[in-house]
Amino acid sequence: MIILSIETSCDETAIAIVEANGDIKKPNFKLLSHSLISQIDIHAKYGGVFPSEAKRAHAENLVPIFAEALQKAKKEVRISRPISTEKKAQLKKLLEREPVLFEKLISYAETIEKPEVDMISVTKGPGLPPALWVGVNFAKALNLIWDIPVVGANHMEGHILSVLVTKDGDEKNIEFPALSLLISGGHTELVIMSDIENTEKIGQTKDDAVGEAFDKVARMMGLSYPGGISLHVLAREHRKDFPIVEKPDFPLPRPMIHTPDFDFSFSGIKTAVLYTLKKIDSPTEKQKQSIAREFEDAVTEVLVKKTKKALDKYNPKSLIIGGGVIANPYIREEFSKMTKDRDDVTLYIPDRNLATDNAVMIAVAGYRQMLTRGFDNPQTLVAESNLSL
Ligand code: KG4
Ligand code: ZN
Repeated sequence: MIILSIETSCDETAIAIVEANGDIKKPNFKLLSHSLISQIDIHAKYGGVFPSEAKRAHAENLVPIFAEALQKAKKEVRISRPISTEKKAQLKKLLEREPVLFEKLISYAETIEKPEVDMISVTKGPGLPPALWVGVNFAKALNLIWDIPVVGANHMEGHILSVLVTKDGDEKNIEFPALSLLISGGHTELVIMSDIENTEKIGQTKDDAVGEAFDKVARMMGLSYPGGISLHVLAREHRKDFPIVEKPDFPLPRPMIHTPDFDFSFSGIKTAVLYTLKKIDSPTEKQKQSIAREFEDAVTEVLVKKTKKALDKYNPKSLIIGGGVIANPYIREEFSKMTKDRDDVTLYIPDRNLATDNAVMIAVAGYRQMLTRGFDNPQTLVAESNLSL
């Protein structure tokens, strides 16, 4: 089946068209097109995501990228097809809080045939409520115009299942039980999955999420938003100059690394960086590189150690890592090293470009949901900003 997926939970507006086949045990996904507009430039001046600006930009950008995604997938057929006055009134009501989206959608929808799409999957949560609602209302509007069934997908499930997407659309078969580590801007969680839809959280952060810590430390160091990648680039420079460090110049703590639970804490590392920076006054480029490297080391050590402990305790057959932070090349490498010599567990990480927010993963999560629970009723579909797995 052909899935049109929509992601607007945070600061990326993304639409993908994905062909999905197979049953729940052996699904396969072929990417037909993916369009994404990042709002980095808009939020950079605030140093973080500004929800009402995110909403405005999603409303502005959804129709242009919808058109682009249809074109790239060769699914746009131009024709004059007026929408009835009655339907327009319903759409206007549905999109009353997104008037720009309403105008743009009507102008475009009246010029195309009903797209050859079997299902719409839209992120319903977790995320920023105003941002989520734009996507959810857009999905409802498409349903109203063309009567295409809808499911509301879980963004975090999307991050996990993004590992199922392969370049050539091959089947990928994950063995369960699996342990999932979710590391994004809002989440740091260890989750046991007895199968594809049954999950149990065994640990989580007590304060900042790991991506949030990257972003905050980067901001303290005057790096550009979003901070994860900027901080990694600095750390990489230091690693090139000093492959092995016996004693770091600016040692940072490894909070909760030895606790018997599977929880995390990252705000202590962040505060330690703040004190370090205060002591140095105006750090040189080399000093900044050294701090960034120690920060990346500290965070990675904690993540790897706790995950290893969970592998040893629960003996899962697979380890899945999802979320924007697994775009980090150093963290990817350290997890590969940790699992290389274990023949009891297979590591699954998404392609780097599917690690950060995207709509492809929402097609996958939506397909899973449709297979096991069927479609949603668009009338009762709502954004759920605190949705958990
Ligand atoms: O999954 P994601 O795109 O959005 C959320 O669902 O939160 O994750 C975004 C987070 C941000 O905090 C960003 O700084 C972090 O992922 N991130 C990285 C890297 N690329 C993105 N963190 C460390 N290293 C990276 N290369
Ligand atoms: Zn995300």
